[in-house]
Amino acid sequence: MAEFTLPKNSKIQTGKHFPAKDAKKSRTFKVYRWTPDDGQNPRTDTYEVDLAACGPMVLDALLKIKNEIDPTLSLRRSCREGICGSCAMNIDGTNTLACTKAISDCGGGTVNIYPLPHMPVVKDLVPDLTHFYAQFASIKPWLRTQSPAPADKERLQSPEDRKKLDGLYECILCACCSTSCPSYWWNGDRYLGPAILLQAYRWIVDSRDEDTGARLDDLEDPFKLYRCHTIMNCARTCPKGLNPAKAIAEIKKLIVQRRSA
Ligand code: SF4
Ligand code: SF4
Ligand code: FES
Repeated sequence: MAEFTLPKNSKIQTGKHFPAKDAKKSRTFKVYRWTPDDGQNPRTDTYEVDLAACGPMVLDALLKIKNEIDPTLSLRRSCREGICGSCAMNIDGTNTLACTKAISDCGGGTVNIYPLPHMPVVKDLVPDLTHFYAQFASIKPWLRTQSPAPADKERLQSPEDRKKLDGLYECILCACCSTSCPSYWWNGDRYLGPAILLQAYRWIVDSRDEDTGARLDDLEDPFKLYRCHTIMNCARTCPKGLNPAKAIAEIKKLIVQRRSA
């Protein structure tokens, strides 16, 4: 499981405590706070939330905190149903989606909430994903073809070929896997990490794509691909139940097969 690590040269301090007034069923949430321009070290603020007047998910509690207790808290969210990937954060030591993580599944006691580990932080629970998205763009994640498109229909795929995309197309690019991967922590500048490699494999196995050779050439690099040491944190943490480590192993297999062909 991924653990949150501190930004360089900083200590997390204990911050403010916001008690719940007249709560029927109180639960404590300890939330990481950091603002880039106030010159202060990061801190954790503690909020008591009345679960009797709150939805069931961790995102419901965070929005209740933001809307009713402390509007200065920053977080990302959009779909609130596990589709957009924007509410990814570290909840009780595991990278996951706040909108699909039930408060009742957080065990007993205080719920600890931090941003995704080993990423620069924009503010509070908002990680800076600029580099992650640049890495995604680098694999050219679209259908690359040389042959002309059929005049009167889409480029079709057999049901069997379409099935090869199962377990890949569901990826929502939440970055939970990459930010749980020790190899990505230490080499994220050059190692593409599990999320981007799973996405790369999604295009490599797409029967309609006609640039497989170039895609494999691009990945055949000691850092981009071969920093994966099969530690499997990625598969354990993926909130969509995907297995990026398997996709990475398949890419490596294709490269070996190509060499010996
Ligand atoms: S593989 Fe899973 S954890 Fe990784 S980015 Fe995709 S959905 Fe998120
Ligand atoms: S299996 Fe590979 S990609 Fe997944 S966590 Fe381990 S080193 Fe990272
Ligand atoms: S808000 Fe979209 S995945 Fe959580």
